[in-house]
Amino acid sequence: MKALVLCGGAGTRLRPITHTLAKQLVPIANKPVLFYGLEAIKEAGVDEVGIVVGDTSVEIKQAVGDGSPWGLQVSYIYQEQPLGLAHAVMVSEEFLGDDQFVMYLGDNLIKDGIKGLVDEFRNNKPNSQILLARVKEPQRFGVAELEGGRVKRLVEKPERPASDLALVGVYMFDNNIMDAARAIKPSSRGELEITDAIQWLIDKGFTVDPHVIDGWWKDTGRLDDMLEANRIMLETLEPRVEGHVDGESETSGMVVVEKGAEIINSSVRGPAIIGEGTRIINSFIGPYTSIYFGVTVTDSEIEHSIILENSTVTDIPGRVEDSLIGQNVEVGRSPLKPAAYRFMLGDNSRVGIL
Ligand code: DAU
Repeated sequence: MKALVLCGGAGTRLRPITHTLAKQLVPIANKPVLFYGLEAIKEAGVDEVGIVVGDTSVEIKQAVGDGSPWGLQVSYIYQEQPLGLAHAVMVSEEFLGDDQFVMYLGDNLIKDGIKGLVDEFRNNKPNSQILLARVKEPQRFGVAELEGGRVKRLVEKPERPASDLALVGVYMFDNNIMDAARAIKPSSRGELEITDAIQWLIDKGFTVDPHVIDGWWKDTGRLDDMLEANRIMLETLEPRVEGHVDGESETSGMVVVEKGAEIINSSVRGPAIIGEGTRIINSFIGPYTSIYFGVTVTDSEIEHSIILENSTVTDIPGRVEDSLIGQNVEVGRSPLKPAAYRFMLGDNSRVGIL
């Protein structure tokens, strides 16, 4: 069995962060989302992985390399344009050959991994198996209608969903999916939808088994989802201090202080993670905060937020909350006269002033 991991596409919902960073590489609890998927694939006993890449191919290749840190053999498949998940399957035909495969969307995070799903598929040998989860806003997802425990109908992002069962971004297929992908037409959003390809399998009498999960799962495409994912994954970490916490500082609860990080005259209340080489000075870091590497926080309070690498937060009078701050960002007070707000914000940025 092989794995196909989809990392093409454009991260429009997480802009401006994804103007410069592939959405699959945004860190959750200081680890890129994609790495959780690669770990889950390895744990399920699948070693041969094809990663579908597009515009952000250079970054993805740089982050994952040949897959050896995970014990995986990774090859890359270039998809010139993000023409849909079924299109991504079609461009991977040579890599997949006649093998069965698990398709994993690179921006999905499944807390309990995929071993159960993969084992069930191996044992029952249907033509396809889909993963479903109950969600609050099914209209944002592919939605499944079941009848007598079987999949009756699948619709991509329906206006009026027939159920609250969303398609999770992990699918099992045998090579019949190739004929299905070739047979379908682009949807109203102009994509070859995997949802339609699976419906084609159902209509032609192939077996498509549902596997409903009750564990936690997230498509990390939006800010709120990222913050929730960060919350959930921080809770799974074990506390450890590999950096330096000075005598004036205090850490409480689940706190990870990575190599070379320094906590000076500050308080860190977990769950929280402070990345490599990051410095927290005269500050408070509250629960559910992940601060990536090379960041400096001085005279500020931050809670329930994610801060990416090499940014600085200095002397902020109010508490920073529910925020995602990108790479190399400076947030601080301006000493210049006349006193004024001075911004340089990227497209699609959002700022909340007290
Ligand atoms: O997250 C689950 C949902 O994923 C399912 O419920 C939907 O049925 C399914 O269509 C998909 O919906 P999204 O609209 O969220 O898919 P998105 O465009 O975000 O793409 C998912 C991943 O696949 C992402 O890592 C980018 C990658 N991708 C996407 C397209 C369209 C590709 O590699 N190539 C593509 O052509």
